[in-house]
Amino acid sequence: MARILIVDDDNEVQNFFSYLLSRKKDFHIFFASTGEEVHTSIASESYQLAIVDLKLPDTNGIEILKILKQKNPACKVIIMTGYSTVKSALDAIRLGADDYIEKPFDDIGELEKTIDKMLAPEINSEQDEPVDLAEQTGFVIGTSIGMRNLFTLAYKIARKNVNVLIEGETGTGKEVLARFIHQASLRLNHPFIGVNCGALTETLLESELFGHEKGAFTGATQLRKGLFEIASKGTLFLDEIGDASPSIQVKLLRVLETREFMRVGSEKHIHTDARIIAASHINLSEAVRLGKFREDLLYRLDVVKLHIPPLRQRKEDIPYLINHFLKRHTGNELTFSQDAMEAMQRYEWPGNVRELSNVITRAITLADGETKIITADYLPLSLTKSDALPHRSSNAQNSEKIELQSSPHLDQFLDDWKENIIFQWNSKHIIDYPTIVEQTSKLEQVVHDAFVKKALRETFGNRQEASRMLNISPRTLRYLLNEKGKGHT
Ligand SMILES: Nc1ncnc2c1ncn2[C@@H]1O[C@H](COP(=O)(O)OP(=O)(O)OP(=O)(O)O)[C@@H](O)[C@H]1O
Ligand SMILES: [Mg+2]
Repeated sequence: MARILIVDDDNEVQNFFSYLLSRKKDFHIFFASTGEEVHTSIASESYQLAIVDLKLPDTNGIEILKILKQKNPACKVIIMTGYSTVKSALDAIRLGADDYIEKPFDDIGELEKTIDKMLAPEINSEQDEPVDLAEQTGFVIGTSIGMRNLFTLAYKIARKNVNVLIEGETGTGKEVLARFIHQASLRLNHPFIGVNCGALTETLLESELFGHEKGAFTGATQLRKGLFEIASKGTLFLDEIGDASPSIQVKLLRVLETREFMRVGSEKHIHTDARIIAASHINLSEAVRLGKFREDLLYRLDVVKLHIPPLRQRKEDIPYLINHFLKRHTGNELTFSQDAMEAMQRYEWPGNVRELSNVITRAITLADGETKIITADYLPLSLTKSDALPHRSSNAQNSEKIELQSSPHLDQFLDDWKENIIFQWNSKHIIDYPTIVEQTSKLEQVVHDAFVKKALRETFGNRQEASRMLNISPRTLRYLLNEKGKGHT
């Protein structure tokens, strides 16, 4: 028989649970109204589940959560909260609460499901379900603590109707995470609609979000529904929200406060239930401080904040991402050699997962038909540091190349270049690393161009011979020729 402890000083809530749970014969229910009573009851009993109000006369739900988990780690804890304290309930989830429910309880069926789920024996389904879902939606988690915590929290809040703000540098996977949350939510069978607030003019964005009536402005030849209407039962992903103009920010705030909006050119209020997930690569609190973003809007969006750590802070996840992208492109055909894997893990990835994905696509293209094992030779030079070069290939033809690459001239040149670039940034407080990487790529490009031209000149344009001279395959030469003038990754 499952032992359930209800902790709330409100009699009505106690009666409600008494009634709700008495319908199930195999539950044994206990009540506590204060922190002191909880102490007494856990001294002699252990529970499978505790449903705890955040506000108690002599303490708060978070303290009770800590005590319960300390005394009996297996006890599941659901926090009860009012709308105004949802943020604290989310803090409780970060601290180990298993779920939260909002008072008043509008959806009894959902509440019963939550309780049943907590009491279900922990066979695989409990643990594997979220991981399977992540896999299905193409969201790689890896093993870093940062991503694990982020994933657990994202999964727990996915089914709640709270707004979510995702922050993270460019390419960290904000959209991938938003899609995962949508798939893990009860809205999964309704649309997930994304709009980039930075990519459209203010007028276009407004008509995109709210729709317009026929004739509302020149060119509005048809009535058009807005995204708030189309995504009403689903999720509206407001990407790069930090770029929304002040006037759009005011309009968004109004919708988030009232859940209503008007089409451009109409006075009629339309209701929307869209769940908002916003994303930004800039820190919005900082933008508020600088007067560029409305604090009240941030407060509405940031009910749950999920910050995706940059890839350089979770390098242990890199092999999982590599395998994911390799598999996606080639099935299980290609693998990375040890040295290539090491080079990937040494690099700092200013463009995060997107850059990593591009590097893999490039390597797969180069390796196509040549090899099943991607070595460091197939990676951009910016990834392979000079100390890794002597190990790069055991091929006899390459011995000349290796000697050249580790020659004193080259080492001296690289040293000078490094000193020079560090000197340029010495006096600056913030180092613009992406620019530095861009400069490095340019250097790489210049070297490519110079050698490819030299070889073609000397072989009178014979590509076969030129590629032999450069110790690369004709395919690689073709690739370099196509890449001419473009960035390199
Ligand atoms: N955890 C992840 N698992 C699998 N793929 C990922 C992950 N994170 C990022 N990616 C991949 O990296 C690329 C960039 O991801 P996404 O567009 O979600 O990033 P973003 O943070 O929205 O970037 P931006 O700020 O530039 O818009 C995509 O190709 C995506 O598939
Ligand atoms: Mg994005």
